[in-house]
Amino acid sequence: MEEQVDAGRTKTIGVSNFNVGQIDRIVKSARIKPACLQVELHVYLQQRDLVKYCQQNGIVVVAYSPLGSPGYNKFTANFGIASKKLPDMLHDAVIKAIAEKHKKSNAQVMLRYLLQKKYCRYTKKRNSVQTQRKHRRIRLYSRC
Ligand SMILES: NC(=O)c1ccc[n+]([C@@H]2O[C@H](COP(=O)([O-])OP(=O)(O)OC[C@H]3O[C@@H](n4cnc5c(N)ncnc54)[C@H](OP(=O)(O)O)[C@@H]3O)[C@@H](O)[C@H]2O)c1
Repeated sequence: MEEQVDAGRTKTIGVSNFNVGQIDRIVKSARIKPACLQVELHVYLQQRDLVKYCQQNGIVVVAYSPLGSPGYNKFTANFGIASKKLPDMLHDAVIKAIAEKHKKSNAQVMLRYLLQKKYCRYTKKRNSVQTQRKHRRIRLYSRC
């Protein structure tokens, strides 16, 4: 990857799914430090030690599955993969109470949590329902 930067084919290097030990090994041995680390990160999986390490070393944290992958089983069913039991974070009672208090959706509360922590978050959208959701996501900081 460093050769790709040297050749001008990419500006920065990003890595994914590394734990603290793995990213530390890269930081200590690489000539060009990774610009970002993409990991699963949301209200139920806060990865505090990993996030602290990245912030201390100037590595941007990119949160994937910020809503807890509610579409995971539907997606994998298309490929005949057995479903997994996943926690239903989008309907968590505490998140719902916070959302009602601030007149926001549960998803907006979950995304706002990541924004307030200054993580980039990486969610998905596809159709018109999703476009409406996207607009609601953009209003994460508004009070109305
Ligand atoms: N690096 C890695 O190893 C890795 C691993 C996993 C995922 N990722 C990447 O991270 C990205 C996000 O992953 P993810 O799909 O697990 O993320 P996610 O954002 O937690 O889940 C996306 C699901 O949430 C639903 N959704 C979106 N907005 C919603 C809302 N406002 N209310 C209710 N449901 C909502 C979507 O449904 P609809 O489709 O109906 O909108 C979709 O099924 C993906 O592009 C994926 O490729 C990377």
